[in-house]
Amino acid sequence: MSLVSFDDVGKTYRSLQGVDYQAVEHFSVEIEVGEFFCLLGPSGCGKTTVLKMLAGFEAPTSGQILMGGRPVTGAGRDRAVVFQGDDSLYGWLTAIENVEFGLRLRHVGKAERRERAMHYLKLVGLGGQEQKYPAELSGGMKQRIQIARVLANEPQMLLMDEPFAALDAQTRSLMQLELANIWQATRTTVLFITHDIDEAVTLGKRIGVMEAGPRSRVKGVVEVALDGARRRTDDPFLRYYKQVYEMIRDEVAKSIARAD
Ligand SMILES: Nc1ncnc2c1ncn2[C@@H]1O[C@H](COP(=O)(O)OP(=O)(O)OP(=O)(O)O)[C@@H](O)[C@H]1O
Ligand SMILES: [Mg+2]
Repeated sequence: MSLVSFDDVGKTYRSLQGVDYQAVEHFSVEIEVGEFFCLLGPSGCGKTTVLKMLAGFEAPTSGQILMGGRPVTGAGRDRAVVFQGDDSLYGWLTAIENVEFGLRLRHVGKAERRERAMHYLKLVGLGGQEQKYPAELSGGMKQRIQIARVLANEPQMLLMDEPFAALDAQTRSLMQLELANIWQATRTTVLFITHDIDEAVTLGKRIGVMEAGPRSRVKGVVEVALDGARRRTDDPFLRYYKQVYEMIRDEVAKSIARAD
């Protein structure tokens, strides 16, 4: 059953100089309930644009986006967003208070919100760190708290825009593993944006590859049938990597040529 449907969506940005830019056009894709969907594409192709439209931060200029059969008309608590290098934790609140924040706004009782916040902190591997302040935590830990914070609100969908891009390689693969485990445990529907093929094959159940912009659309969707541990040196992993690489190679070349 599909949860999200992008139906022939287009987005044109009006520039202040009066020159329009058609970022995406004829963009269509369906995301299933409980699916981990990765959207991959060269820099500037329109990935963030697509995510922002689903988040309700930007309106499409043509086509429509449905969530649960209803048109997306604005932001909502059913869709939680984690941006690249996001550093929106409150410095004056401890880790657990940051995770509880949304629940407090919604007047969830103290005992219940503590319990829920603790549950999600443990899920992201931060049990025992709950009394620390953001300044006392590493970049990877802060990113995990941000994920715990959005999970605590139990959204129907997680929208993640290159959430690990600012992390070092080791922390990044640790976080990927952590996110894969969280997804296994919660089965929340995820739209995960990346330009990293390795990350997409590691995490995605399906990978949508976008064309280079302008007027970017979905070039194709690759279904990843890998079970359990996805070791990067295993043959099946490498086969998927190669398949996606072949699809995206020309698009990256186009996007570099257009930037000249
Ligand atoms: N608010 C805006 N006004 C005008 N143009 C915009 C705006 N936001 C994005 N664009 C343009 O739309 C295109 C797509 O941008 P977008 O941020 O969606 O790309 P992206 O695929 O997320 O890139 P990256 O991988 O670098 O994050 C780019 O050419 C960008 O310059
Ligand atoms: Mg982007």
